[in-house]
Amino acid sequence: MCGIVGYVGDRECKELLLTGLERLEYRGYDSAGIALVNGSIDVTRRVGRVQMLRDAVGDGSHPATLGLAHTRWATHGGVTESNAHPIEACDGSGVTAVHNGIIENYVQLRTRLLEQGHQFHTDTDSEVISHLVEEHYDGDLVEAVRLAYNELHGHFAFAVIHRDHPNEILAARRQCPLVVGVGDGETFMASAIPAFMSETRRVQYVLDDEIVVATPEGATFLTGEGDVIERPIEHVDWDESAAEKQGYETFMLKEIHEQPDAIAETIGERLYHGELQLDGLNLDEQQIRELSRVVILACGTAYHAGLIGRYLLEEWARIPSESDIASEWRYRRPVIDERTLVIAVSQSGETIDTIAAMKEARAHGAHVLAVTNVMGSQATRDCDSVLYTRAGLEVGVAASKTFTSQVVLMYLLALKLGIVRGTIDATRAETLLAQVRALPELAQQTLDRGHLVEPIADRFWESEFFLYLGRYIGLPIALEGALKLKEISYIPTDAYAAGEMKHGPIALLDDSTPVVVIATDNHVYEKVLSNIQEVRARGAHVIAVATEGNTRIEELAEYVLYLPRTEPELQAALAILPLQQLAYAIAKRRGLDIDKPRNLAKTVTVE
Ligand code: F6R
Repeated sequence: MCGIVGYVGDRECKELLLTGLERLEYRGYDSAGIALVNGSIDVTRRVGRVQMLRDAVGDGSHPATLGLAHTRWATHGGVTESNAHPIEACDGSGVTAVHNGIIENYVQLRTRLLEQGHQFHTDTDSEVISHLVEEHYDGDLVEAVRLAYNELHGHFAFAVIHRDHPNEILAARRQCPLVVGVGDGETFMASAIPAFMSETRRVQYVLDDEIVVATPEGATFLTGEGDVIERPIEHVDWDESAAEKQGYETFMLKEIHEQPDAIAETIGERLYHGELQLDGLNLDEQQIRELSRVVILACGTAYHAGLIGRYLLEEWARIPSESDIASEWRYRRPVIDERTLVIAVSQSGETIDTIAAMKEARAHGAHVLAVTNVMGSQATRDCDSVLYTRAGLEVGVAASKTFTSQVVLMYLLALKLGIVRGTIDATRAETLLAQVRALPELAQQTLDRGHLVEPIADRFWESEFFLYLGRYIGLPIALEGALKLKEISYIPTDAYAAGEMKHGPIALLDDSTPVVVIATDNHVYEKVLSNIQEVRARGAHVIAVATEGNTRIEELAEYVLYLPRTEPELQAALAILPLQQLAYAIAKRRGLDIDKPRNLAKTVTVE
């Protein structure tokens, strides 16, 4: 996630762009940069927050009335000044661009552009945009951007300016946000409305697969083929605080809805044309084949993602795997050696228990892989390799999009290990990879059914206790669903392996207890149905999460939340979505501060 802001009009734009960037800082703040056009293009970039950029450009006025600015959440290429945007094409080309998202085919494009003589000066995927535009440019910037856009695969929003076109910003979007602000004799372009809300409240939304030509007189919308599309101007009447949350009432709700995008970013170029590539894993095929064990360590929500990873690694890569809570594991006397892969999962990369466990693992000679969402975090320094989730900044204290991103990374990792170790056959791997690729779309379909949790919340929001049950890959989802509800609604919850319920928790059930059961389609489905019968026999109320088409469950459960059908293991990434929505709907009815639940901190740096 990065923030883009652009301006074309008749006012000096330096201050407008910097103010816009500050309002987009929630989208990332690894580095920031600005490009101002005044005969030539003056580009300034700095590592750190927008304030660093402000200090660098100084208070003085600048005559430019066309410019672009960017705040970065690093994905490809480290947090350095040279990787900050705006990114220029070859020296003297006059082309500069900013980008948000992932260009999946950047390796192929970069190789070709290098052969064509282009000189690259960053490690980013983004740089291919500037060079492609330069390559296609023969005086017609719109056509150059259109041709460049048609060569890009992935999901992205980008904006381009050219020294010789002082009245134009070209931009395009595929799945990443982009919106136009319509002023009087001026036009804004941004990742989100807050960037220009103090200047204009008239907006035009850029839709997927559209190119926009912004001039002081307004914006023209084009298809990839160059056909003009009509786009109405809408008026937004949000207040400042609603704007920060993109119109959602809380950050958590915004982040729940960002999950399709977070999943898509996490997959990104790692899965391209059926090929799975995990740069950063830093283990060669020989080392992967020789692994004797995997140990996954994490805390809280990340631990639940790790539990899913354990099932996957056993299922697909056939490696003995265990998953433990970091604060427990470090005080055991763990039996590990150089052939053990230790995976530390941490959204923040700063959780002290996880960091301490990583150090312990390294001291025993294990290869430690960090899975984190934050570039440059402590975990990335205390490991042998890193794989990043790319969920963007998560503000809500209760994790949502970072969890699903971690789960998706576990899919990619387990598949990679399975393919290299030859434990998953080619046809099955192909099917699974295609289904992983479809996950953002399936997640969107799942979230779109969110209204179905409302009657359940209406009925149970005052309940004193919720039980969550699941088996196999449904168990970590039950644990995570229960954690979400207790964190944001303060309702006591328990989560249990459904088959274990009869050994204790069944004593808690009576005719007032809501019981959430993960009953997705897999080899334990029939067993879970039997467990539901046990719950019903005690008069408790079953809310089931099930797979579309398995309608028999409607005879047993009072409420069924259906998921789109996909491979059994992949349902885990979807099954959590209605449970986040249910927890949210209940917490809302209880009138609680959902973004900041009591006693919790987003990053836990104490033992
Ligand atoms: C729950 C939650 C926490 C974190 C835990 C680990 O919603 O967010 O349980 O998952 O504190 O944090 P990270 O992943 O930063 O190590």
